Amino acid sequence: MTGIFDSGVGGMSVLKEVRKILPDEPVIYYADSAHCPYGEKSREYIIGRARFITETLIAEGASVIVVACNTATAAAIATLREEYPEIPFIGMEPAIKPAALRTRTKVVGVLATAGTLKAQKYIDTRDHFAEGIKVVEHIGQGFVELVEKGILTGPEAEKTVETSLKPLLDEGADTIVLGCTHYPFLTDTIRKVASALAPGMNIQIIDPAPAVARQLLKVMTEKGMLPDGGGKASTLILSSADPAKAEDFFRLNV
Ligand code: DGL
Repeated sequence: MTGIFDSGVGGMSVLKEVRKILPDEPVIYYADSAHCPYGEKSREYIIGRARFITETLIAEGASVIVVACNTATAAAIATLREEYPEIPFIGMEPAIKPAALRTRTKVVGVLATAGTLKAQKYIDTRDHFAEGIKVVEHIGQGFVELVEKGILTGPEAEKTVETSLKPLLDEGADTIVLGCTHYPFLTDTIRKVASALAPGMNIQIIDPAPAVARQLLKVMTEKGMLPDGGGKASTLILSSADPAKAEDFFRLNV
């Protein structure tokens, strides 16, 4: 069984990709909505949550875990790998490399949480792959809250997206990396706002979720963990008292 976790519904953008290539894999998804957002929390706080969630997922039968959260990956995956050596952990990689290959203006924009952008893991990845290009960054201010409320399109979503996207487009970014798993749910709005702000630029949006799902498949294949085709039984665990929206997201993406 594969365990997947995030601060909330964001990791379901990864779950959706996992489902496409592993349709029979039983999945247990932990949405830590009671502690969402992670983006502004300390590293120690996030490590504490990641440890607790990992214990819960293992107790429920998970044998491989996807940290479907860029902020938690940056803060906690090294600790998790050290403390639970028997469990393979798959984390989120900010997609700077594919973005660097695709940009024509040689300017890549990254949208992510404050926690991700200041983490050494992100800075190392960026510096490694950003040779010859300029990387401009912005926190997706208010994006996570919108997605958690299920507001993915419309005037409020467009206004929120514009505030964080405009500075990146103003710097000449033609390729936008979604560095938080909540943000792919706003892709239609990001596309709409980008074409209004930079008409004719054909802004590309890069979501690392398909690559993360492929990495999960690779690890499971190598370790002989592929499902036997017995069908998918999937479970959602919520730490929040108000699960309605998360359940809707889960039904749509599982
Ligand atoms: N979805 C998460 C990420 O990928 C965390 C968002 C948050 O809770 O701030 O970074």
